[in-house]
Amino acid sequence: MTRRIFVTTALPYANGPLHIGHIMEYIQADIWVRFQRMQGHELHFICADDAHGAPIMLKAQAEGVTPQQLVASIAADRPRYLAGFHLSFDHWYSTDSPENTQLSQDIYRRLKSAGFIDHRTVEQFYDPVKGMFLPDRYIKGECPNCHARDQYADACEVCSIVNTPTELIDPYSTLTGAKPVLKSSEHLFFRLSDRRCFEFLEGWLGAPGRLQPQVTNKAGEWLAGKGEQTLGDWDISRDAPYFGIPIPDAPGKYFYVWLDAPIGYLASLKNYFELGKARAHGERRSFEEFLSAADTEQIHFIGKDIIYFHTLFWPAMLKFAGAPYKVPDHVWVHGFITVSGAKMGKRLGNAISPLRYLEIGMNAEWLRYYIAAKLNASVEDLDFNPEDFIARVNSDLIGKYVNIASRAAAFITRYFDGALRYADDLADLTAAARTAGAAAREGYETREFGRVMRECMSFADSINQYFDGERPWVLARDPAEAAHLQAVCSRALYGFKVLSVLLAPVLPQLAERVAREFFGLERAFLWADAGVPPERINAYQHLMTRVEGKQLDALFDDGKTGNATAPAPAGKPAPGAAAVGGTPVSAADALAPGTISIEEFRKIDLRVARIVEAETVAGADKLLKLTLDLGSERRTVFAGIKSAYDPATLKGRLTVMVANLAARKMKFGVSEGMVLAAGGEGPGLYLLTPDSGAAPGMKIT
Ligand code: MSP
Ligand code: ZN
Repeated sequence: MTRRIFVTTALPYANGPLHIGHIMEYIQADIWVRFQRMQGHELHFICADDAHGAPIMLKAQAEGVTPQQLVASIAADRPRYLAGFHLSFDHWYSTDSPENTQLSQDIYRRLKSAGFIDHRTVEQFYDPVKGMFLPDRYIKGECPNCHARDQYADACEVCSIVNTPTELIDPYSTLTGAKPVLKSSEHLFFRLSDRRCFEFLEGWLGAPGRLQPQVTNKAGEWLAGKGEQTLGDWDISRDAPYFGIPIPDAPGKYFYVWLDAPIGYLASLKNYFELGKARAHGERRSFEEFLSAADTEQIHFIGKDIIYFHTLFWPAMLKFAGAPYKVPDHVWVHGFITVSGAKMGKRLGNAISPLRYLEIGMNAEWLRYYIAAKLNASVEDLDFNPEDFIARVNSDLIGKYVNIASRAAAFITRYFDGALRYADDLADLTAAARTAGAAAREGYETREFGRVMRECMSFADSINQYFDGERPWVLARDPAEAAHLQAVCSRALYGFKVLSVLLAPVLPQLAERVAREFFGLERAFLWADAGVPPERINAYQHLMTRVEGKQLDALFDDGKTGNATAPAPAGKPAPGAAAVGGTPVSAADALAPGTISIEEFRKIDLRVARIVEAETVAGADKLLKLTLDLGSERRTVFAGIKSAYDPATLKGRLTVMVANLAARKMKFGVSEGMVLAAGGEGPGLYLLTPDSGAAPGMKIT
């Protein structure tokens, strides 16, 4: 039976480029989608930019453009990523669209008439200079508990206590530095505490197979909490100025971005239907008919940080808005991608830029394969490790898979003019192909991609072993063995075809080349092709190159460090250039040996940092792992101070760090800077501390 499936990935905020975490999510969904398409199912793969909200409005202001212009410029960049990583979205739209306005207002009106909307007066911080209510993320102050300064209310970085903005001592607006004032305003609430929501969500969350067990548990905890009414009502309105969708009959009020963002899934789908794109995919019904049909599957792929929105608010909104809206069938959650075991940070040396990956000529299918090989159906994080990446791509993709074709094809082309012939009974081989196919199918369906990749590689191993065991290079020397040689190579190439079909969701471009150029098909592979032994091949053309260590170095090189073609650093003559007449060529050379200029000193970005976390490192007898707060960001630094300090005594104290030291990959993780300590000939190490009053992030000049 043909399934009709509507798949989305989370809508990325339209205030910045896509990062590797987004790409990982899209790759996961894309593999699943391509697998379903290969099964012949009707699939609509949809995304959009999440355009609304205060951060986008403020960023646009800071850049001197309208929010629409900012969003448009971000949107213009998306196709490079999508095409570059072979992400086969059928449609990409925006939440700042007429369809989204219409749908959001419609859903709101329906919820209102069903009695789910409340009005309540809320007292909130207001920035009198900026003239706007302040989202919590724009308010900082001193923690009432530990008195650390410059803390956000949501969780003190030093003592981890959760405060409300009004509990902060000396709060200030991070937008203007002004002291915020309390101001009241009427807000609209979605009554998630309503008994009907509780009852519905209990059933929805508990439906067998709907969610991953970890996700059901997590959402179940929020739902059940301490009593029955533990889900708080949800504040869905924001006051002007706000970049969002106006709330009907509530002048000056807008929907909070998280209300209209998931509705953006439907808005994008609606626009796709209106453009006739759904029909082009074989869907003849209208948007409303499709959306409400019992056989339409609605599936969302998201990351673990947005479970709350997708498993509580979103299904409840849809449920109580009523037909044609329908609750999601599945919300599939993935973990976060980390790099060499560390959380990625934008300014840290460990961030992988997807565009840089493509620009330096790395193959997108390497990354697709690597991610597939490490993904499973759990919400665990997935680590990108450069050495592991090189090993897997080279040994699996090139060494095991591609190799089969290059070796076996050489004999077939040379001695048999491309013709394949299976001398003996093929039953064992087709049976093996069927088994591998069934296992892969089950694995793809349940998002156990790592298992599928392992099974494919062990199938490749068995083909390579068989091939080597038959010693075709020896057979080739004996004309009497020609038929045998042809059969051996044919079997290996049939195995290669099976593998190409099974890997096609992960390696779509490569598989299509194999289908068309090597096996001479006039289309890309379908799943059923795995059951058909090929009869001919064309001469083998190079399929994939190995990844090299220096490409990974280039990927992590942020482009700031010099390279061979860079001009020699100022102040030093270029190699071979003579200093004319003994006169120094620049002022720097005039300095006495061992001295540096003030410019050189200023290159070192020294900052006050607070040690938020200090831990021992298993297996390292000199190192402590420090988490440093720099005011605007956090860093991990491995410092050789274990002999001198008990980690417990370091927590909360201020020190000085080199903030612009290139990140360094160490055995235990990436070190993103260096703390300063004094030490002499003898034992003893003394960490530097600024005088009292200094705050994290202050520059040392
Ligand atoms: N705009 C909201 C989503 C609205 S959906 C109606 C949002 N945007 S986001 O840009 O911050 O994140 C988009 C997706 O990327 C989310 O699913 C998020 O979990 C995912 N990821 C963000 N960082 C990630 C990693 N480091 N690794 C994997 N996925 C990550 O949230
Ligand atoms: Zn605190």
